[in-house]
Amino acid sequence: MIRAPEARARHAAVLASLAEPLAALPAGERQLFEARLLRRFEDLHDGLEPVYGQRPDYQAFLERLTGALARGWSARPEPLKALDLERDLASDWFQHESMVGYVFYVERFAGTLAGVHEHLDYLDEIGATYVHLMKIMQARDGENDGGYAITDYSRVDPAVGTNADLETLCAALRDRGTSVCIDLVLNHCAREHPWAEAARAGDAHYLDYFHTFPDRALPDAYERTLPEVFPDFAPGNFTLDERSGRWVWTTFNAWQWDLDWSNPAVFLEIVEVMLTLANLGVEVFRLDAVAFMWKRLGTDSQNQEEVYDLLQALRACSRIATPAVVHKAEAIVSPDDLIRYFGVGRRHGKVSNVAYHNSLMVQFWSSLASRDTRLMTRALGEFPKTPSNIAWGTYVRCHDDIGWAVADDDAKAVGLDPFAHRSFLSDFYTGEFAGSFANGGVFQYNPGTGDRRVNGSLASLAGLGEALAANDTGAADLAIERILLGHALIAGFGGIPLIYMGDEIGLTNDEAWADDPEHASDSRWLHRPAMDWSRAGERHDPSSVAGRLFGGIRHIVTTRADTPQLHASHDTEILDTGHPRLFVLLRRHPIGPLLGVYNLTEGTQWLRGDVLRGVGLLHPGDRLGTGPTLTADDHVELPPYGRLWLS
Ligand code: GLC
Repeated sequence: MIRAPEARARHAAVLASLAEPLAALPAGERQLFEARLLRRFEDLHDGLEPVYGQRPDYQAFLERLTGALARGWSARPEPLKALDLERDLASDWFQHESMVGYVFYVERFAGTLAGVHEHLDYLDEIGATYVHLMKIMQARDGENDGGYAITDYSRVDPAVGTNADLETLCAALRDRGTSVCIDLVLNHCAREHPWAEAARAGDAHYLDYFHTFPDRALPDAYERTLPEVFPDFAPGNFTLDERSGRWVWTTFNAWQWDLDWSNPAVFLEIVEVMLTLANLGVEVFRLDAVAFMWKRLGTDSQNQEEVYDLLQALRACSRIATPAVVHKAEAIVSPDDLIRYFGVGRRHGKVSNVAYHNSLMVQFWSSLASRDTRLMTRALGEFPKTPSNIAWGTYVRCHDDIGWAVADDDAKAVGLDPFAHRSFLSDFYTGEFAGSFANGGVFQYNPGTGDRRVNGSLASLAGLGEALAANDTGAADLAIERILLGHALIAGFGGIPLIYMGDEIGLTNDEAWADDPEHASDSRWLHRPAMDWSRAGERHDPSSVAGRLFGGIRHIVTTRADTPQLHASHDTEILDTGHPRLFVLLRRHPIGPLLGVYNLTEGTQWLRGDVLRGVGLLHPGDRLGTGPTLTADDHVELPPYGRLWLS
């Protein structure tokens, strides 16, 4: 039932216009589509109307859009329609405690999409139920921001295979219960994309796909309030295109042209792409750099209201035509902005299904360096509440650099100087701080703000690289525990833990990253090493580093799958126990609570027994181990980097 009369009228007109696209379908399927359209029409309209509703062609646009959805659904292969039905019934599938993500560059993991088939058992062994295949759609030649400068959204890059290969791989993974995630780069495409090529040649239709300007007047006005994403290798946000003689909005690199989402034609194009990819079997879209999708003079042009409306509308499109699909927002922004990517207020729970928990990642590294959890407890404790139909994507490392997103207020609240603390973290993780265990590199030093982001693989940042190089087994033991601690934390937080390729066997930095001319200008390739299959071959040897890590992570992941408290629909509550070295989180559940206790230091720590009793844990067992035992003076002991899941 559609409540608003205006939306009701639009729906009726849309339905009438769908007679033709739906005509070829059997009656049952037509009804199913119509039922889904009815169910989600208001979400669709409520997202689109604020953005495009004033245009005289709005109704015609709606009809074109829903026509595309109807055709997309009609063309959807039977096994995917079956999956749609399954997920209509189990719409919480991506929130399930058995969900575990594994993220990899296809080329670095297996050469090609076809090559991935040889490693399906490996993926199963890790417990992956979701794989993020990176850098697979056609991107520009040469530098391409790790694949984020797309020249064809619907075509697999011939370097890794064909669309048919993608379809085959999706089917093989689906048979094993594993969902495929791929990137959909919403903010920009490559300067070499046919849309941009046409715009450069002066085609008015395609010029409207981008933000271009005849002179510097507006760019200068915008620039006054815009930050820089890549101050080092791509300063400023506008680039003069010699061919068209126009200034082009390029938030990221000069050859990444920002799309103009105020043009409904862009919306339609992307929806067509989504339908094509979903019908190949893609189940999760990682919506890249969404914060930047809408520009507004006098602001930082991030997280604008229209972004949330557009994402809600895109989400509704998937729910109508490809209901098996979920959306993951990549927005590395402050907590209050981030929460809106799930949807708050009128958009509650309607904007995206999954979003990256950047703060959890940052706070993990911050606590490890300072051996102090007070900032972490404060920052995560202040996090806004999430809707119950979403899941965090939790991670300790990914393909990107780490920016020290520590809010000034949080730092001050625990007595830290925010600038000094961020600076300390950069020093610590680049190994400049005396006594640091880490070995990372600086990314995008910004002299204006003093900002220094950090690169490095999990193993290198956690100290494993240095320890192994120095043959220091004591230090290696600690590094291994740090890596396992991080995985226990992301697996025990609630949400989908995302394991980044190679972390499960302790791959250290790729010191030869700059040898490849395509990568040489982007030091993030430091932590994008190729998979080391010979090291992976040691994973069943419990005495090897790979074996200890792989076995440890597997244990965490299998335990998680058997821990209903970790279903993402339940809240994560951060407990402030007053202990400055432990991080404690509670997940309440009808079967009883789960208390996660994490020791972020290399010293033994003790948690007061009354904290356990306070949450109703009278005789707790540790799901991850055998403990805990209460000491004579009523404390639970945590070894260096210890982690307990008490229930
Ligand atoms: C996202 C990607 C990052 C890329 C940027 C621009 O943040 O994760 O790798 O550089 O978007 O596309």
